[in-house]
Amino acid sequence: MTSPKTSLTLPTPDFYEYPWVPVQSVETQGRFLILRWADGAELTAFDLWLRENAIGQGGIDPSTREALLDPAHLHDDIAVRSAAVSDSGSVLVTFGPDGVTAEYHPGWLRHVADGNHRASSWLPNPVEWTSSSLPEPPTHDGSRVLTDDAVFGAWLDDLLRYGLARLRGCPTEQDFNAELAAQIGAIRDTNFGHLWDVKAVVEMAGFADTNSTANTNLRLGPHTDLPTRETPPGFQFLHCIENEAGGGFSTMADGAALVEALRVEHPEHYDALTTLRWIFFNRGPGIDHRWSGPFIDLGVEGAPLTLRAFYPVRAFPDMAPQDQPRAYAAMRCFSQMADSERFKISYSFTPGDVVGFDNRRILHGRDAFESGGRRHLRGMYIDQDEIRSTARVVSRRLANNNNEG
Ligand SMILES: [Fe+2]
Repeated sequence: MTSPKTSLTLPTPDFYEYPWVPVQSVETQGRFLILRWADGAELTAFDLWLRENAIGQGGIDPSTREALLDPAHLHDDIAVRSAAVSDSGSVLVTFGPDGVTAEYHPGWLRHVADGNHRASSWLPNPVEWTSSSLPEPPTHDGSRVLTDDAVFGAWLDDLLRYGLARLRGCPTEQDFNAELAAQIGAIRDTNFGHLWDVKAVVEMAGFADTNSTANTNLRLGPHTDLPTRETPPGFQFLHCIENEAGGGFSTMADGAALVEALRVEHPEHYDALTTLRWIFFNRGPGIDHRWSGPFIDLGVEGAPLTLRAFYPVRAFPDMAPQDQPRAYAAMRCFSQMADSERFKISYSFTPGDVVGFDNRRILHGRDAFESGGRRHLRGMYIDQDEIRSTARVVSRRLANNNNEG
């Protein structure tokens, strides 16, 4: 058996530094180790999971910090032979059949005991809102967002918390959204393009020559973009470059709050919208995007809410004829609630604004224009994964800086 190490800088299965929180005791119960800390925290660790997370020795690759063990090569003889707490509070485990001993950082084990390894960790809890609890989009300083981690992190957190957060005072350069994306993650490309224009020369007449209702002077009811995709884009960012048009206020409503209200107040409509499917269809030269899904797509436990709410591309009921009357009644109720003063907020765009919102949770829309003038917004999509990853990284960086400061 190798001699116990007492280093306080043990490598861990990832690239983070963990505070050293000594383990007090370890007890074997069948194939599990029960680890306990002095303050009462406890972790039940399965033998094969511990073996997978041994640094080196065929467990975690020290350079990539990724797991090396193919499940096909796991076998029951790997079982723990002995386990002990070292003098410094790390955990030493010897595995069969070859007597490999691994040492585990107690702070890394503790972060698992505390639940800080979960997908929700380092992210804010979502907060549902209505027009009375959030009359204006939470607003942050766009002139500092690219240079000040505290501003950047607070804006990302509000995007995840409320599904809606605005930057004010950003530059009005055409490609500012791309500069923001460079700091967040990959732009989600679609048939609208990488960065796309919502450009209206509002002349208060007729239909524009465009492939999207967004580029007309018409009212746009509360909706979510691109329900025609298996996974519609996660977040949408609208950057205002100029706005001389009258009216055309933007509207937002929190779909998460609306779905909860519907569940409580109209359970029959909730049932219809969460189970009956529709076929959504993007019609265009050279494209044929279609997806069938419910209007309110709850996904698997813990997944972000996906609303498939966009009448311009809702094409066919994908349900039995006898279900269609209740499907239409439920959609009507949902859309009236989304457009009601209870849920909807309205605001105007000022050049230099970037309004970001969760495209699958927040219902966005636009009032009709009242007077002519130029309005130019540039949009982009960035998926949930990129926003969450960057928000975690920035939260951890800010926490580290605070600890060091
Ligand atoms: Fe839209």
